[in-house]
Parts: sequence; C-alpha cells; structure tokens
Amino acid sequence: MVRLAWATDLHFEFTTVDAVVKFCERMIALAPDGLLLTGDLAQAPSLERYLRALDRALPMPIYFVLGNHDFYHGSIGTVRGQVEALVAQAAHLVWMSRTDVVSVGPNTALIGHDGWADGRCGDYTASRVLVKDYRLIGELTGLTSEGRRAVLGALGDEAAAHFARVLPKALSRHRRVIALTHVPPFPETTWYQGRIADPEWLPHFCARAVGDVMVGIMEAHPDHELLVLCGHTHTGGAVQVTPNLRVVVGSAEYGRPELQDVLELRGDEETAAG
Ligand SMILES: [Fe+2]
Ligand SMILES: [Fe+2]
Repeated sequence: MVRLAWATDLHFEFTTVDAVVKFCERMIALAPDGLLLTGDLAQAPSLERYLRALDRALPMPIYFVLGNHDFYHGSIGTVRGQVEALVAQAAHLVWMSRTDVVSVGPNTALIGHDGWADGRCGDYTASRVLVKDYRLIGELTGLTSEGRRAVLGALGDEAAAHFARVLPKALSRHRRVIALTHVPPFPETTWYQGRIADPEWLPHFCARAVGDVMVGIMEAHPDHELLVLCGHTHTGGAVQVTPNLRVVVGSAEYGRPELQDVLELRGDEETAAG
C-alpha cells in the first residue's frame, strides 16, 4: 500500500527551528512513500534554505508546488530559476510545475502546478482588496489595477495550460489522479475566515482558469477521478465539485506547521485517514 503524507502552508519563516525539526522528525517516523507540499513553504529569501533542509533531512520523495508567499520579497522569475537549479541537484525534491506525470501507484498518478489567483472570480473591478502579493512580489508591484489584472490572468493561464497538458496524459494511464496546487480552483472551495470568500476577496483567492480546465477534462472522463489538494486560504474543507472531481483545502495556522492528512492508496482505492 502506498502512503502519501500531505502538508500545506507550512510557512517555516514564521516558526522556530525546533518546529521545523519536529516536523521533519514526524515525517521520518511516519515514513510515507512520499510527502506532498501544496505551497507557502517560506518566503523568497529563505525558500532555498528550507527546501535544501527538507531534501537533506527526509529520505522520501518530496513532491511540491510553490505558493504566493514563496515569492515574497523576491520575484517569480528569480525564485523559479533558483528552484529549478536546486531541484536539478537535489536527491528528493520534485517540483510538480516542472514535471509532467508521476505514477505513485498502479492506478494513481500525481500532477501539479503552483497555480495563481487569477482575478477572474468575484468582482475584480469593484474590489478594493490589495493583498500583500501586490507589494511584495516583483512582477506584481508598481502596476495599475488593470495592469495587475493582466499579470494575474497570465499566471492563471499558465497554470491552466499546464493542467490541460498533463491531466489528460495522467488519465490515459491511471484511473485516479491527485493534483497539487496552491490556490483553490473553484469559488465554492475558497473559504476565508470560515465562509466562502465574497466577491471582494474572490478575485485574489481563487484560480478560476485552472478549475475550468479541470471540470472540462473530467467531464470527458466520467470513469476517472480527480482529487485536488490545495491550501492558500488556511481554511480547511472538502467539496465534491462534480461527481468525479473532489477538492480538499488544507487548514493552516502561522507558526504551527502541521501534517494535513495521510492518503492511503490501496489498489484502486485511496482513503484519507487521520
Ligand atoms: Fe499560506
Ligand atoms: Fe498562499
């Protein structure tokens, strides 16, 4: 039986060295076949250090995507370049945004992309929300609202294009696919402070282009299943979006890196435990 541990929004920059060590010790004791990380591991200046530490400390493959915080105090272009170089010489790191399909069991494939809140849910034009991304990530600073909308849309389209390419490939050889992404891809999976985010917040919290691609592909594969694991809003929950597409959002608290779940893949079945 294949066991995959899942954690999200660990935000190691807000925690102590002790807490990072404890998280690693827990993973070593649990000994899963892989660790899934759905973004917001740290911030740009410390991301490489934490990824390197996980790669050295943990003996299992670490399948990860990056979240918006991983680019804070840096730029998307620079961080992506650093992570590509690091992954190329790491023993256990697999950046899913640069990976097609990983077969994790006889019937289950893993795919993923960082994703991005693309401004397409809620009411972008009327929204007065300015999330920290727009001050702390190089590509998103110094822009007009419309200029920023174009960049957010392009980032969302990039993620959607990745899933449009790899999801059919994964489904061609596996009955079930697990997709890792940071940003919830549907409004109904985008909770904020205990309820579905309102039109003011949704443009900044939801990756609509990714969701649209997933629904379209899964409708054409009624005998297959897609499980999406994500984070970002720190408000946990699960939604069966369509009969064969389920989204689970992880809960998180700054300063308290936690394991979300352990997925157990038994033959055709995969059940969430813990
Ligand atoms: Fe986060
Ligand atoms: Fe985030």
